[in-house]
Amino acid sequence: MEKLESVIVNTVFREDEPKKQFISGDIAKKYLVKYSKIIKELSSYYVENKKDKIISQMQENDVVNAYALYYLPINFYKISFLFSKISKDLFKEKNHINLLDYGCGPATGAIAASDYFKNLNVNLSFTLFDKSLPMLNLGKKLLKGYAENDVLITSNINDVRKKKYDVITLLNAINELTNEELNKLFEDINFLLDSNGILIILEPALKDLARRLMMFRDKILEKYKFSILYPCFHLDKCQMINSENDWCHGEILGLNSKLVRQFDEITGFNKHKIKYSSIILYKNENFKNVNDNFCRIVNIPKETNRGLVLNLCGKDCFKEVTVSKNKLKENKRLKKLKFFDEINKDEIGE
Ligand SMILES: C[S@@+](CC[C@H](N)C(=O)[O-])C[C@H]1O[C@@H](n2cnc3c(N)ncnc32)[C@H](O)[C@@H]1O
Repeated sequence: MEKLESVIVNTVFREDEPKKQFISGDIAKKYLVKYSKIIKELSSYYVENKKDKIISQMQENDVVNAYALYYLPINFYKISFLFSKISKDLFKEKNHINLLDYGCGPATGAIAASDYFKNLNVNLSFTLFDKSLPMLNLGKKLLKGYAENDVLITSNINDVRKKKYDVITLLNAINELTNEELNKLFEDINFLLDSNGILIILEPALKDLARRLMMFRDKILEKYKFSILYPCFHLDKCQMINSENDWCHGEILGLNSKLVRQFDEITGFNKHKIKYSSIILYKNENFKNVNDNFCRIVNIPKETNRGLVLNLCGKDCFKEVTVSKNKLKENKRLKKLKFFDEINKDEIGE
């Protein structure tokens, strides 16, 4: 995170003063206030899902800089977490990886990927695709500052279609696509992804956006021969979709970002718990990630007089169960279960 933040600060600020201040401590508030106003505005557009506003804002240099200062560390943390869910063995036959960062923004997916592949003996080629030119230019600079890699930037989908990709990152972008654009992407995705390729989709953990992602997941699995690496344990239709007030999301703790902390102090936001909605798909129908016995816990486990109440989501299983106090005594791990952890049904006698 430190390295990324210093690249962001050195790229975004023209003045030497904030760059020096960042090395020894915090950046003076006067350099951040302008960006914190933009961050607040952007955040309200995201919550209210004002697509048009967001898209027009992404043409402004100050806005893309503000996005990089605040959202890049947060999204880098989320996507690095998602990469950690992908076994490196899946790439062991490859010596060259083509990665497409679709709706790349400040190259968040490509930057996290360069970390993930760092110790594997592979050459990396990145294609950064975005409809905002200021974002593309910033993304290119940030990626170059972070890791020397072969990179093509484009806002033309026809350039993107010239290759097949081993990895496609589609991060916080679906929510900005119109239904028509999303349908087009759906038609493209199978063609763009090479066999044994991996598609990582991340979205903000907001109800409507996450539910749109859950529907996109079902549509992909219905038409194409993909498997799921995370977070589902089955390829059947999403069962959570039927309960209208639910949306699939997880949370991660432990973000350690000086920039995010400084902006949170000004804006009053709090990124202690980072929520996300995501799906990692693998273009290999024969791959079996885990057995059908596994479930994900989709509530905050609740201790009651009868025992521990868990809501489970897994194959043919979308229900509430209560783990008895006796079981909790026998198996100490059960007491430590957290929201979005996985569990083998055998462990709780289901
Ligand atoms: C919220 S930003 C996400 C940036 C980056 N992927 C991240 O997660 O940090 C969404 C990006 O998608 C881009 N975008 C929106 N609609 C697009 C489209 N139809 N084609 C390509 N990029 C698009 C925007 O310009 C913006 O940079």
